[in-house]
Amino acid sequence: MTMLKVLFIVLYLFISNASVLFAFHKDPYQPRVPLELLEKLQDQDNPYPATAERIELGREIFFGKGLCVTCHSNNGKGVRLPGHSPRDFTDPKWQDMREDGELMWVLKNGSPGTGMPIRVGKVINEEEGWSVIHFIRTLKGK
Ligand code: HEC
Repeated sequence: MTMLKVLFIVLYLFISNASVLFAFHKDPYQPRVPLELLEKLQDQDNPYPATAERIELGREIFFGKGLCVTCHSNNGKGVRLPGHSPRDFTDPKWQDMREDGELMWVLKNGSPGTGMPIRVGKVINEEEGWSVIHFIRTLKGK
């Protein structure tokens, strides 16, 4: 490998990481979905009713194969990550502003420019995604 190639790779890694840090929007209340989709996603309801079984399923995914707990922590307030922390799921203001359809979009696409990775379609399926959203709703105000 030539020195130039090495230099390019180092530069690329630096820029791609830096963009993660700089693209982060500080305001947690700002929508995370593309604005042209916002209205449609806000109208999209969770297709599954919030039964006790459904919430329990979501809880198992949050602490289990979804790996959500590693970043969002046991109580949903989130652990500190380089760049920024994940959302505080206990925040009632954030809970009231976000519709389930927006959360599903983030589960399917990640939150671009942040540490929030794609989950639905990678580690969990769509039904499991809707279940974990029901669980996240139970953290409001805790
Ligand atoms: C590698 C760390 C990491 C993992 C794993 C992770 N998240 Fe996140 N999550 C984040 C970060 C960071 C944010 C904040 C992103 C932002 O500011 O837009 C976030 C934001 C969110 C949001 C808020 C989006 C919004 O509209 O405000 C939801 C919902 C969410 N995560 C759900 C989950 C679920 C459910 C799982 C597991 C299936 C999960 N996350 C796994 C780091 C993670």
